[in-house]
Amino acid sequence: MKETVVSGIRPTGKLHLGNYFGAVTNFVKMQYDYNCFFFIADLHSLTTHPTPQDLHGYVKHVLVEYLACGIDPEQSTIYIQSDVPEVAELYLYLNMNAYLGELERSTSFKDKIRSQPNNVNAGLLTYPALMAADILIHRASKVPVGKDQEQHLEMTRTFGNRFNRLYNSEYFVEPFAFNYAKNLVKVPGLDGKGKMSKSEGDGNCIYLSDSPEIIRKKLLRAVTDSGPSVENQTKPEAIQNLFDLMNIVSSPDTIAHYDALYNNVAIRYGDLKKQIAEDMIIFNSPIRERIEELSKDNSYLRKVAEQGAVKARESAQKTMKEVRALIGFKSF
Ligand code: ADP
Ligand code: TRP
Repeated sequence: MKETVVSGIRPTGKLHLGNYFGAVTNFVKMQYDYNCFFFIADLHSLTTHPTPQDLHGYVKHVLVEYLACGIDPEQSTIYIQSDVPEVAELYLYLNMNAYLGELERSTSFKDKIRSQPNNVNAGLLTYPALMAADILIHRASKVPVGKDQEQHLEMTRTFGNRFNRLYNSEYFVEPFAFNYAKNLVKVPGLDGKGKMSKSEGDGNCIYLSDSPEIIRKKLLRAVTDSGPSVENQTKPEAIQNLFDLMNIVSSPDTIAHYDALYNNVAIRYGDLKKQIAEDMIIFNSPIRERIEELSKDNSYLRKVAEQGAVKARESAQKTMKEVRALIGFKSF
């Protein structure tokens, strides 16, 4: 029996190269080794009150882009969270034994209080219970997420174990974070500091759907410095970031060439940026073309979403039948 993996992504816009190299490529590889559930976490995204048009558009982006990257709906279960109402039901039950104190201590909740002080809603507070429901509903043992989600996973284990104790069962298994790839890739952004992230703005991100013209424009604006002044000096963060980007899209020869130019104090950043842009365009083009094709094919997208919902609900309904019996919901 293959182990079960669950991963969700909040639909907040288009996928960028960070999402691709940090998450989606691994999903594509792991779908052959595990029983994978990949879902679009549209219920989670309601905490920020997106408009119906935005919500629908973002969900479509993620679905299209997952498929364009190679997530195979015949191989794994790809579904939209709100298509599986059993998740909301399990969320309700888990909320009954999630305590205010522990929810308030969650780092992501504290961050949200700071970032959206005018919208501190109960959904934000109970976000970890919903995430636990996403995972426990398929009784998954592995969750491919990064460090920032470790606390949520710990809470998932707490809620699952507490449920088990309350109902004197061993029903839920403990899920753990795992890395499929040996080396975790962190893709830097274009602003000279930190990782590529939507929250740092569109200029910081190369989206999978960006056209060649946009990629060239964004690269030209990437932050650099006044250039090296002595041979073999350590690269400052902004320059190292550009080389890191080159590392993921360019050939070893090309990288070595620019590295030597930097070390010999002969580099021209304009050339370096152009080279990265052209290699990125070559890398991105097949994905972008599939995105364009799939975006036009609503009937295929509907089929994929429906098929995913059927498979996900089958798994979720089995769990909920057993959960309901454990809780004591019985017919007369
Ligand atoms: P963003 O920071 O743009 O909002 P998300 O937090 O939605 O991105 O990330 C979704 C997934 O993509 C997560 O699994 C995360 O680890 C991965 N990811 C996001 N940005 C990067 C990056 N710059 N490098 C590597 N992985 C990333
Ligand atoms: N909280 C995750 C994030 O912000 C998204 C998510 C929701 C998730 N439910 C999940 C991830 C279940 C893995 C498993 O990235």
